[in-house]
Amino acid sequence: MIKTIDPNKVSQQELHAYLLSAVAPRPICFASTVDKDGNVNLSPYSYFNIFSINPPIMIFSPNRSGRDGSMKHSHQNVLEVPEVVINIVNYPMVEQMSLASTSYDKGVNEFVKAGFTEVPSEKVKPPRVGEAPVAIECSVTEVIELADTPGAGNLILAKVELVHINEAYLDKDAQLDTQKLDLVGRMGGNWYTRSSGTSLFEIPKPIRNQGIGVDQLPEKVRNSTVLTGNNLGRLGNLEALPTQESIDRIAALPKIKELLESSMDTVKIHKLAQQWLDENRTEEALALLCIQ
Ligand SMILES: Cc1cc2nc3c(=O)[nH]c(=O)nc-3n(C[C@H](O)[C@H](O)[C@H](O)COP(=O)(O)O)c2cc1C
Repeated sequence: MIKTIDPNKVSQQELHAYLLSAVAPRPICFASTVDKDGNVNLSPYSYFNIFSINPPIMIFSPNRSGRDGSMKHSHQNVLEVPEVVINIVNYPMVEQMSLASTSYDKGVNEFVKAGFTEVPSEKVKPPRVGEAPVAIECSVTEVIELADTPGAGNLILAKVELVHINEAYLDKDAQLDTQKLDLVGRMGGNWYTRSSGTSLFEIPKPIRNQGIGVDQLPEKVRNSTVLTGNNLGRLGNLEALPTQESIDRIAALPKIKELLESSMDTVKIHKLAQQWLDENRTEEALALLCIQ
């Protein structure tokens, strides 16, 4: 059964709850801004992402209040001083970041309220968060106000001017180390997600290569009762179907010969292929699946 929702027939809160749980995890922009008098504001935004590398542009969206349509202080500030520091949030900062989202009065400095260290920026007026693994000084190039209704988004286009990286988060090749970063994402309701340990995984996809596609896999493989969508995706990512020679080589392995001689049990063969896929033996798994 599928529940189908017409946005015109549910309340704004209901639609919001469904969409925020579904469109997740979202990265968190911890935006530091100043007003024209130099008062500092620090607020988290999960309507946030990077959208362009050349020019390097990130966008976040402080929405108008769903209750009274009022503008967020960060929104007001970037209209007064079109600059922002986007601080990246990781697990050790998450409780203080949440505290900084409290709606304090305009002019209240959330660095102070949440206990973060203000570090002066080099190219922009707002300070950066000393505890952030990465802090990005940006100029605001455009503010796109989607509407003036309660809940309306306001896209703040932020152009990267300077990037600060805490070297403790670099690996031996001077690249940001995803395991060390331990970034957090916003989910629906009060849920967050943490990106570390076993929640991280890699999918090999050399950008220059073109996978054959799931449609090119033999029918019995595509319609397998054992192989999952992820298994088929991994197989379809191979650049070519196996040669007869490689199929024969797999078929001649003692363990496989025994399996084929005892029975041509498709389920057993597919389960073994699945095990090989889990072990990153993708070419061999497809050769096994192609034995007639
Ligand atoms: C993790 C997190 C993500 C948030 N994302 C957004 C967002 O994308 N847009 C928004 O309008 N409010 C968002 N909020 C709420 C704002 O952070 C909150 O309203 C903030 O205090 C606004 O402060 P200001 O009025 O001082 O700018 C988020 C809150 C949290 C804790």
